Amino acid sequence: MDEEIVEKISTGIEGLDEMLNGGVPKGHVFTVLGTFGTGKTTLALQYIWEGVKSGDKCIFISLEEEKDEIIRTGRSYGWDFEPYINEGKIVIEKLSPADADATINKLKSDLPEFIKDFGADRIVIDSVSLLNMLSDKPREKRERLFELSQMVKQEKATTLLTAEVKDDNPTSSRDGLVEYTADGVIVLRYDQSHNKEVQMSIQVIKMRRIEHSRKIKPYEITNRGLNVQTAGEVF
Ligand SMILES: Nc1ncnc2c1ncn2[C@@H]1O[C@H](COP(=O)(O)OP(=O)(O)O)[C@@H](O)[C@H]1O
Ligand SMILES: [Mg+2]
Repeated sequence: MDEEIVEKISTGIEGLDEMLNGGVPKGHVFTVLGTFGTGKTTLALQYIWEGVKSGDKCIFISLEEEKDEIIRTGRSYGWDFEPYINEGKIVIEKLSPADADATINKLKSDLPEFIKDFGADRIVIDSVSLLNMLSDKPREKRERLFELSQMVKQEKATTLLTAEVKDDNPTSSRDGLVEYTADGVIVLRYDQSHNKEVQMSIQVIKMRRIEHSRKIKPYEITNRGLNVQTAGEVF
């Protein structure tokens, strides 16, 4: 496909946009993979913050943190979501993986309807790994994930799904599914080489329909969010 006709949106992270030659293709469903503490939630909030600043309507679905905690986390990075929530530009919704029936209902009927009515431009689901706890049947998990991807794609919202990785493989999600259904996969890694400090690094593994960098680049989490050093080298 001609690179020129793919419309891209900013992730809110300058260095990552650069790695993607401008940003994420509009309407894509992409996954951010990483272990705990690599900054998946931070990246997702930064993505939403970029969205509201550019006038997008955003939905943040959390399976981990409560709404209040998310607002507090945002504030710790200097992103005050509250006025945008009050204006109806952002909706933050906590789903409880413990209450499987209610959550499945929400995902199957309330959510698609809500997304349609709300007219979301950007959606985050943090995290799909917890979503998978709703079922222990692999087939059901696969179907649910697929349904979810199809649903958000139909609504043309650009969607970020965060996912935990398998302990023994930093580039494969715990469920091993989401990277196949997603249009894009971005991996956050946490490395500690001998005698050196911990270094976090980011890589775009997959992004359908665009040319992107495959280089591994270092990043840090500051009180302004993720900062990717595109000029830097890893170790
Ligand atoms: N306000 C902040 N300023 C700087 N670093 C922060 C701030 N808040 C969190 N962090 C860093 O980000 C990490 C958490 O990132 P998070 O996005 O929650 O990761 P994940 O969702 O992958 O578990 C913390 O462990 C801390 O190192
Ligand atoms: Mg998180």
